[in-house]
Amino acid sequence: MTDTPLAIVVLAAGKGTRMRSDLPKVMHPIAGRPMIAHLLDTAAELSPEKIVVVVGPDMDVVADAVAPHPTCVQADRNGTGGAVKAARAALDGFAGTVLVLYGDTPLVSADTMRRAAGACADGAAVSVLGFRPSHFHQYGRLITDDAGALTAIVEARDATPDQLDVNLCNSGVMAFDGRHLFGLLDKIGTDNSKGEYYLTDMVALARADGHSAAVVEGEEDELLGVNARSDLAMAEAVVQDALRARAMAGGATLVDPGTVWFHHDTQLGRDVVVQPNVVFGPGVRVADGVNIRAFSHLEGADVESGAVIGPYARLRPGAKIGAGARVGNFVEIKNADLGAGAKANHLSYVGDAHVGAGANIGAGTITCNYDGFGKYETNIGEGAFIGSNSALVAPVTIGAGAIVAAGSTISKDVEVGALSIERAEQITKPGWAARFRKLKSKDKR
Ligand code: UD1
Ligand code: MG
Repeated sequence: MTDTPLAIVVLAAGKGTRMRSDLPKVMHPIAGRPMIAHLLDTAAELSPEKIVVVVGPDMDVVADAVAPHPTCVQADRNGTGGAVKAARAALDGFAGTVLVLYGDTPLVSADTMRRAAGACADGAAVSVLGFRPSHFHQYGRLITDDAGALTAIVEARDATPDQLDVNLCNSGVMAFDGRHLFGLLDKIGTDNSKGEYYLTDMVALARADGHSAAVVEGEEDELLGVNARSDLAMAEAVVQDALRARAMAGGATLVDPGTVWFHHDTQLGRDVVVQPNVVFGPGVRVADGVNIRAFSHLEGADVESGAVIGPYARLRPGAKIGAGARVGNFVEIKNADLGAGAKANHLSYVGDAHVGAGANIGAGTITCNYDGFGKYETNIGEGAFIGSNSALVAPVTIGAGAIVAAGSTISKDVEVGALSIERAEQITKPGWAARFRKLKSKDKR
């Protein structure tokens, strides 16, 4: 097989009507990226001579997402057979194996793709990747003869009751001997319940021309087709389970794996502990030995070793948490770095800021970084202590080792080692409360 050149055609022009969405079906995300991106990454592992994506006429968003892979436009969305025909110019003269993938079947492994393509390289004119799904109502059925040879694929809506009982289904992954592909495609008709050119007709057409058709079987988890939102949720569940397994295999403890949600690019180090109900958005890197406590939400964040995040912490894009630093409950960090050992343990917003090593951000501290027009920076020096319920009005700098008294609104720089208090002076009137109560109790009704 390795000697036979390979081209891959990905079908993505369908309208995805059953998704009931304004977004093209193949752009719906799984683990945070379009399903077609998952498929294309896997397809690239086969190192084909070319990968061509067939899109609809109004699908620039898909063309942009699949770049630099070239696209062909299927002007008239008249079925999966019509879609492969749209790639004719791109495959002109190609005599190797043409592997056709459906953009809505995004979880096929590289190994399974290789097996499907390999059957063609080994002599079949058509090879079909079949599977035996637990819910198979929507899939085309693979019809075999008494000798077990594949004779046809029948779509569920065109099948007889006997054919509907067949549980070997069409995953949509098919490979063709490029020398016969377009000749056979030209023979496809539209005599079916949808009046479309079905690619699946290629099996019967190949057999009628005296060619052989092969079946290769795969697993349900990697072959489920996404037609509706419920299928999308199933695909998400499969990918999340794989990402959880990857994190654990890499040395992270997930206390309750099913409640941790990953983005496809999440990186966790060794001996990271992730408590239940943690969500990772895009671009998170967590170094070794970090403890992420329950109900935290992280995106675009870099967390150095030994840091403790949460419970209930929110790290937003540009958060850089230094080694051993602590970000506690109801603390939001955005575009800010916390130096090693710095602490923001309770109820704070730290945005557009640099916080030096060992600094302590008291409960309820807010960096006031936005005036409705621009964003401004707060700089907090090493070892500074920001008292609780302080507002730091940016741009402002708190020098290293300085102390800001609790409840202060700081709008001028505080020099290194200074104390800054900004609040009304406290007045205490001895005995006043007791007198007040006595007076008032006389009038009480
Ligand atoms: C198709 C198969 C069915 C198989 C199932 C596996 C056909 C006729 N049926 O059914 O046997 O069990 O996939 O999931 O092939 N597309 C185009 N242009 C079109 C129509 C579709 O590019 O004109 C693309 C879609 O974007 C999609 C793929 O082809 O990625 C499959 O189309 P879809 O309508 O989802 O086919 P199914 O009904 O799922
Ligand atoms: Mg489909």
